[in-house]
Amino acid sequence: MSLAYFNGRYVALDEPVLPIEERGHQFGDGVYEFLRVYGGRPFMLEEHMDRLYRSAALIRLEIQMSREELTDTVYELIRRSGLADSDIYLQVTRGIAPRNHPFPTTPPSVTMTIKPSYTLPPKLRDTGAEVLLLPDERWMNCHIKSLNLLPNLLAKQTAVEQSCFEAVFVRDGMVTEGSSSNVYLVRDDAIQTHPLSNLILGGIVRQAVRRMADAAGIPFVEEAFTPAQLLEADEVFLTSSGIEVVPVVKVRGEGIIGSGSPGPVSQELHRRYSALTTAR
Ligand code: PDD
Repeated sequence: MSLAYFNGRYVALDEPVLPIEERGHQFGDGVYEFLRVYGGRPFMLEEHMDRLYRSAALIRLEIQMSREELTDTVYELIRRSGLADSDIYLQVTRGIAPRNHPFPTTPPSVTMTIKPSYTLPPKLRDTGAEVLLLPDERWMNCHIKSLNLLPNLLAKQTAVEQSCFEAVFVRDGMVTEGSSSNVYLVRDDAIQTHPLSNLILGGIVRQAVRRMADAAGIPFVEEAFTPAQLLEADEVFLTSSGIEVVPVVKVRGEGIIGSGSPGPVSQELHRRYSALTTAR
């Protein structure tokens, strides 16, 4: 069953627990992680923890709970839920304090939710997705997994309203990433994606793609590309912990990618990713 955790308590998902003067609610003053559980085991948990503590440090938030305590809580949440395949959101905010911009001295809040795994629209992985290119209007610290997601939400909503699966951001003429995913192209049997910088979130699945590419002998090139290069690519695909590897076959109003069907590299990467998540 779905469950939540709030500052030391395990509660029903719909139990009202957040005080109004919670800084996550008032300001989006916090960071988060999303991770997936396969067969009762959280996938790449260490990497998610690394990113959570890194994001927190970058907004000058001291989590206070040790990494071991937080890890134990994740496992306890999984155990109590009884779910084998689930989605976990973990948020750390600057806590509960009267609304005022300067940092409070109160301790941070830690919240988590666990729910049965999200499933992709049926057949999407077989048919491939359509994306919409939009200007990247986010701030200059996109490497921080911050709770402030308004530009991402606005872009995703615009894409969804145009029947597209994802919005792909373009900043200064270069493709950065999706509103909630990383973006890659395949050209001449090499995978290319935006380098790690303040302009993208360093995806955990991106790390897995790099390792799978190395294992498969496919070059992994970290170099930004233009929308024109995206359209001329043999294949394009998206990754995130929720969607895993999803091929992109169309760019709204621009044209078709490659043959218009999911390509062999995207499909091979998804096969390898499934093997990683199941055979542990
Ligand atoms: N989002 N880029 C952005 C902007 C994201 O929001 C995400 C993930 C990714 C991929 O990261 P990862 O491979 O670690 O899932 C890239 C999650 C799924 C979310 O916000 O729900």
